[in-house]
Amino acid sequence: MSPRSVLIANGPNLGRLGAREPDVYGSFSFDELTARCREWATRFGFDADVRQTDDEAELVTWLQQAADAATPVILNPAAFTHYSYALRDAAAQVPVLVEVHLTNPAARERFRHESVIAGVASGTVAGFGFDSYYLALAALSRRSE
Ligand code: DQA
Repeated sequence: MSPRSVLIANGPNLGRLGAREPDVYGSFSFDELTARCREWATRFGFDADVRQTDDEAELVTWLQQAADAATPVILNPAAFTHYSYALRDAAAQVPVLVEVHLTNPAARERFRHESVIAGVASGTVAGFGFDSYYLALAALSRRSE
């Protein structure tokens, strides 16, 4: 069987992993996250397309394309989590979407406690560093068994 596609989409500042607040986000780079996600995806029978953008409109376009192709999505909306209704409306069109966060926003500053994406996500994994993506892939592979 050929591997199923999954889009792993990442929002603003996640391209700065490693350099960005390493005490909060760790010392591994986005390239390292990408490599791990690809490897884990392969193990679960997926072909992962891992992307990052700082641009809200680009992220919205990627979700619309995933919706049209019925491609499942793992989304780290980064700061857009907390205020982007445009991204929420795009996420609502994707049949299977797992929201992921490296940190646990509920345990951080107050403005991070609300996710406007969570209500249209299939589920959320937060607080486990890179392993949040692993757990999201595991959940997706169980859903599509
Ligand atoms: C984040 C949490 C967000 O609050 C923050 O704006 C990010 C990263 C996370 O993965 O922990 O950029 O989504």
